[in-house]
Amino acid sequence: NSITLLGVPFDLGAGRRGACGGPEAIMQAGLPEKLQRLGIPWNDAGLLTWPEPQLEQDALPLTALKHLHDVLALNEALHAGVSRIVQQGSFPLVLGGDHSIAIGTLAGLASHYSRLGVIWIDTHSDLNTPDTTPSGNIHGMALAASLGQGDERLTRIGGFGPKIRPEHTVLLGVRDLDPGEKTCIKAQGITCFTMHDIDRRGMSSVMEEAVQVAGKGTDGVHLSFDIDSLDPAEAPDTGTPLKGGLSYREAHLALELLHESGIVTSAELVEVNPSLDTGQKTAQLAVELIGSLLGEQIL
Ligand code: ARG
Ligand code: MN
Ligand code: MN
Ligand code: MN
Repeated sequence: NSITLLGVPFDLGAGRRGACGGPEAIMQAGLPEKLQRLGIPWNDAGLLTWPEPQLEQDALPLTALKHLHDVLALNEALHAGVSRIVQQGSFPLVLGGDHSIAIGTLAGLASHYSRLGVIWIDTHSDLNTPDTTPSGNIHGMALAASLGQGDERLTRIGGFGPKIRPEHTVLLGVRDLDPGEKTCIKAQGITCFTMHDIDRRGMSSVMEEAVQVAGKGTDGVHLSFDIDSLDPAEAPDTGTPLKGGLSYREAHLALELLHESGIVTSAELVEVNPSLDTGQKTAQLAVELIGSLLGEQIL
């Protein structure tokens, strides 16, 4: 089974520009060489392109949904791009871009998988809606939209929705929730492992349960990995860093365990922002983490 890389140079879902440089930075940090060394057959679908949005969005300031029309145009194109990769029988590995691209990735996947599990590794839950968002940044709404919550234009990318169900959705590494997001997690019954849970139980135990929840009764499992889940000491180049994150070892263990589980059918890695310029450290980390997800081993 081959892997197909798809770069998504998009950053208008975030409050800070620069995550559009993520795909190129990750490739330059050695992803092709890593895949080569692992002996995994892979294709490069290149950088996604999408049409300019039609509407004059700045004529009407949409403060609760910043850059909505760009986000919509991008995610429609990404829906088609990811769908094509799955159709070809290949494993989509999407490189972001900010986390708003998960809307299009999940749309493309859900057009093939009718019961898709999701493991969302992130500091944040990205469960805001236009009514609860503190920022108007759509990357903070990507998981909500995929679950069918929020503005209909976002929940119906690809012409259908919701894409996923709360009972097959797992949050992991969470340490910053807005009030509306807490309410959503409880009301929807989403499984949520916070940093506190990881401290108490250890990554190994928590991931075992995450795999059970996302894998039970599903026909595919998507990993959505926000690099800001790591501690800023490891991943400084990201738009919304927050202290107290996953350690280098915890993050690698999480991805090694996911590889071992054999349930993951697609993945995306988002929020690498090389413009924040602390060298290549964060992009290099991304390459190493992808190695662990794809089965890199010492022996
Ligand atoms: N919860 C905050 C918001 O809605 C931060 C979201 C950050 N999301 C991310 N994908 N980095 O704006
Ligand atoms: Mn934000
Ligand atoms: Mn996120
Ligand atoms: Mn985040």
